[in-house]
Amino acid sequence: MDPVIAGKEPIEVEVEEGKTYFWCTCGRSARQPFCDGAHKGSDMAPKSFKAETSGTVWLCACKRTREQPFCDGSHEAL
Ligand code: FES
Repeated sequence: MDPVIAGKEPIEVEVEEGKTYFWCTCGRSARQPFCDGAHKGSDMAPKSFKAETSGTVWLCACKRTREQPFCDGSHEAL
């Protein structure tokens, strides 16, 4: 099953060094770009990542990135 395209531009978020985040891989979360549990019943699961430094990151919303959870420009081909 392909993930839903939650958006065709990355989402800017502030992260805190050392904190763990759960990026939505399925595209169904209403709390993009993070998981809200909406993947339940599918074979998808969130991808966790730990912020290495505090600051701004651009997380993928189209769910087609090859550098999860970060935008790699894949939305430009959609
Ligand atoms: S809601 Fe999309 S991975 Fe959890």
